[in-house]
Amino acid sequence: MLCTMTKLSRKHLLAGLILIVAVTVTQGTFKVNVDDTGGFTISVDGVTWLSSGKPFFNKNGQRWSVGGINGSQLVQVNITSHVHVGGQKWNETKVLYTFGNGGDMIATYIRIYDEEYNRIIFTQEYIAGASNTSINGQTSFNTTIGGYPCLQITDPDEDLGFLSYGGYMLGFTDMTTGIFNHQTTTINDGMNYGPLALFNKKGKAVVISPYDNYMSASLWQDLNRRQLVWGIMGGVNDIPANFTYRTILQYGDSINQAFSEWGKTLQGKVGLDKNIQRTKNLVKDITVNNLGYWTDNGAYYYYTTQPDKSYETTLADVKSYADQQQIPYRYLQLDSWWYPKENNSRGVLTWTALPDVFPSGLQNLSATTGWKFLAHNRYWSKLTPYAKQNNGSFNFIVENGGSLPIDLEFWRYLFKQAKSWGLIVYEQDWLNRQTMYLSSLHTSLTLGTQWLTQMGQAAQENGLTIQYCMAMSRHALQSIEIPAVTQARVSDDFLFKAREQWRIGETSIFANAINVRPYKDTFWTTSVQPQNRYGKESKYPGLESVVSSLTRGPVGPGDKIGYTNKTLLMRCCRQDGLLLRPSRPALATDKQLMMKAFGQSPNVEIWTTNSRISTGYGYTVEYGILFAADVPDHVTISVTELHFDLLTSGIYYPYNDITRWQYFNSTTIIDLSGCSKTDFCLFYFSPWIQGSNIQAILGESNKWIPVSSDRITEITSTQDSTTLSLSGVPGEIVTIFYVFNDQLQSTPCSFTFNTTSCVLAPKQNSATSVKSENFRTTVTLLTIIALRLIFLK
Ligand SMILES: *[C@@H]1O[C@H](CO)[C@@H](O)[C@H](O)[C@H]1NC(C)=O
Ligand SMILES: *[C@@H]1O[C@H](CO)[C@@H](O)[C@H](O)[C@H]1NC(C)=O
Ligand SMILES: *[C@@H]1O[C@H](CO)[C@@H](O)[C@H](O)[C@H]1NC(C)=O
Ligand SMILES: *[C@@H]1O[C@H](CO)[C@@H](O)[C@H](O)[C@H]1NC(C)=O
Ligand SMILES: *[C@@H]1O[C@H](CO)[C@@H](O)[C@H](O)[C@H]1NC(C)=O
Ligand SMILES: *[C@@H]1O[C@H](CO)[C@@H](O)[C@H](O)[C@H]1NC(C)=O
Ligand SMILES: *[C@@H]1O[C@H](CO)[C@@H](O)[C@H](O)[C@H]1NC(C)=O
Ligand SMILES: *[C@@H]1O[C@H](CO)[C@@H](O)[C@H](O)[C@H]1NC(C)=O
Ligand SMILES: *[C@@H]1O[C@H](CO)[C@@H](O)[C@H](O)[C@H]1NC(C)=O
Ligand SMILES: *[C@@H]1O[C@H](CO)[C@@H](O)[C@H](O)[C@H]1NC(C)=O
Ligand SMILES: *[C@@H]1O[C@H](CO)[C@@H](O)[C@H](O)[C@H]1NC(C)=O
Ligand SMILES: *[C@@H]1O[C@H](CO)[C@@H](O)[C@H](O)[C@H]1NC(C)=O
Repeated sequence: MLCTMTKLSRKHLLAGLILIVAVTVTQGTFKVNVDDTGGFTISVDGVTWLSSGKPFFNKNGQRWSVGGINGSQLVQVNITSHVHVGGQKWNETKVLYTFGNGGDMIATYIRIYDEEYNRIIFTQEYIAGASNTSINGQTSFNTTIGGYPCLQITDPDEDLGFLSYGGYMLGFTDMTTGIFNHQTTTINDGMNYGPLALFNKKGKAVVISPYDNYMSASLWQDLNRRQLVWGIMGGVNDIPANFTYRTILQYGDSINQAFSEWGKTLQGKVGLDKNIQRTKNLVKDITVNNLGYWTDNGAYYYYTTQPDKSYETTLADVKSYADQQQIPYRYLQLDSWWYPKENNSRGVLTWTALPDVFPSGLQNLSATTGWKFLAHNRYWSKLTPYAKQNNGSFNFIVENGGSLPIDLEFWRYLFKQAKSWGLIVYEQDWLNRQTMYLSSLHTSLTLGTQWLTQMGQAAQENGLTIQYCMAMSRHALQSIEIPAVTQARVSDDFLFKAREQWRIGETSIFANAINVRPYKDTFWTTSVQPQNRYGKESKYPGLESVVSSLTRGPVGPGDKIGYTNKTLLMRCCRQDGLLLRPSRPALATDKQLMMKAFGQSPNVEIWTTNSRISTGYGYTVEYGILFAADVPDHVTISVTELHFDLLTSGIYYPYNDITRWQYFNSTTIIDLSGCSKTDFCLFYFSPWIQGSNIQAILGESNKWIPVSSDRITEITSTQDSTTLSLSGVPGEIVTIFYVFNDQLQSTPCSFTFNTTSCVLAPKQNSATSVKSENFRTTVTLLTIIALRLIFLK
């Protein structure tokens, strides 16, 4: 049955390249071997990790595969290889099949990039299209209608762990980890799929996900054939001619590197314009850059007002309390309590303020408080009067389970209205329910993309940004192509679910890779908030607060009036509410992921992040942060395991006692025993200041991020002086700590305008010998950093 022919394509002839059938590509430690039938194996450091299974495709109500039974054989007619040399270098092997002898054609491609990129792109090409591809009705919706690549679920030649994002909140709710072997059954699949990482005990890793068609792609864990199968979701019944679907497999020397490279590749694909647009949106979005007040599930005023007062008055009182306490909330979040919903499904009818909630209107609240709004929306009711089916003006799909706008003009109308009452960020919540309850979104190849793209386009046109909430992985991936999406919730609601929602180290990896800011959700700054509607206490207000600040995303407390711990809250930001942030979200370390997957600890949290500060000499210096909580006894971590970019030695200290500062270098081991939820650990790492009078800058000790580029915009130093360019608020006084001659010292810096130049003026003392010793280290380091910079270029 198997018929292999080789011929030269026109492209090959033009390029004058030689055809290779069996292609072996060596890529440093990552190696892909393609055999003469198009099958492949993937190995790392000479150890086989993955082998291919046979592709299949559904058509005419049947599953067709090589060697398939029931007369539905895929017949392999052709295998060709192509070597691409210009720009990014890759090898590609194409296999051409027919559905039965002489039937329509379909092709698979495996494109292997060289060691600079270490990735594979797999393509399915439906040359003639296919119809009747969804077989067995609704029960097949969590499978796929075709499979390429198919990877065998079998024992690899070394222990591999896996991390499988799944469910909603960027894969938080159903995330699984474990050992990948022939017994593996818990990888998230179907409508619920998410990116999948496999890694060995050294942290070398691959990340696999769809590379396009995110809203209609799926991963199917086919336990009968014991294969992981990527393809188009099982409900899609018709594929047009020339349709292609692609899957990416990205290798990295560490798990975090694999995710970061994977994300960069996905972002790179959408083009520079959209990425620049996203970056601009992130800069301009008030809510990712400033403190705000929240009223969603978990917040005190969620479907709750003060006794005998309206929402309107309650929120005005929140503002008065904040003003009186000088708490600088810069925007207000309105949750689902503000608009009318259908009685049965609770779907939204119109996205307009209920008159009894806001008798004077939202515009009035915005005018009286000075706040703009981040406002929540949910899934659409089948009765929404916006739909033409309900005598409205706009095109919707209306089903029993709900409805869906399919009309760019609708979104333009909605956002134009909303801007007039003060909307700045549209929060699209319940993305999972909207998707799971609407069968059109399980059966259409393009509808999901159309829906989210129209929403995003209209938002962009109106200068609005979007927060995704309850986003499944498919929505999160789709957001890569939608610059208006600046933020996404990365865990369940505050105070509610069994899995504590502050544990966002892994979902932050996903969010960071796709360049949306992770949002932890609201929190309380004091544990006990009397008469709250949940009958609960918040056990770890400090933990909730620091985790929020570590995200580089929104910080949104939701305290009862009179119950804000201002000292704790203001660790997040400047006096005017501008968030003091790290340069990237704190991310779970490889160490944490390996401890979870290989069974040492199901719950440990060990995250790191950094701040990059400009020096004024054309390069930046790195300040590191290590966060650890819920760590079992006898766990240590070395400085080399912290994923810092450049930082290898300097001074570090615990957040709660700056006087306990110590030297560190690449051999330093940090003991994490006793890092619990109540007594979480937080260490700050500062580099030696090069060629300067002082040894290291420790920063503002009363902030969660003591050295942030949002505060310290530049450090310039000479042998005689160190000067910081600071940004702040007129009247604000910032105390900067640093180490001079092995003494902890501080200098207060005050602001007359919104920037200031602050000279660190250490008091002289006698310990000069220590200083000169450190100075030698500094000079060496300067050389190392200079060399690294050269290599990075
Ligand atoms: C095999 O592939 C080559 C190159 O793509 C093509 O020119 C040729 O027609 C193919 N053969 C068949 C039988 O399709
Ligand atoms: C698809 O299946 C339906 C029902 O079995 C059948 O009536 C129709 O002819 C099939 N169409 C194609 C193109 O195979
Ligand atoms: C072959 O047909 C049987 C019975 O209809 C069905 O259960 C099985 O899934 C089919 N196999 C394939 C490979 O389509
Ligand atoms: C392509 O394959 C050839 C032959 O195996 C190999 O020499 C070359 O390095 C490969 N190129 C890339 C980019 O993988
Ligand atoms: C498909 O998966 C979703 C999410 O896990 C689940 O809720 C649903 O019941 C599944 N559907 C079928 C038909 O198995
Ligand atoms: C598919 O692509 C081929 C080659 O580019 C083209 O000739 C053909 O018209 C396309 N078919 C459809 C339906 O677009
Ligand atoms: C929804 O329920 C409320 C309260 O029970 C009732 O007053 C209202 O008439 C209902 N609306 C509709 C459209 O059924
Ligand atoms: C807001 O509404 C109140 C009460 O209706 C009214 O007194 C006030 O003038 C309004 N303020 C603005 C700025 O519209
Ligand atoms: C739409 O309007 C028509 C004509 O006025 C009316 O008969 C029908 O009941 C309306 N439908 C809905 C869903 O309101
Ligand atoms: C506020 O938070 C700080 C820091 O966590 C804590 O030391 C202090 O006791 C808290 N104050 C109140 C009133 O809870
Ligand atoms: C690191 O610091 C330790 C203790 O201060 C010291 O003994 C060691 O030589 C240092 N190692 C390097 C590579 O600088
Ligand atoms: C600082 O103040 C200047 C002059 O008042 C103003 O132009 C600038 O926008 C302000 N910068 C910031 C970051 O607030």
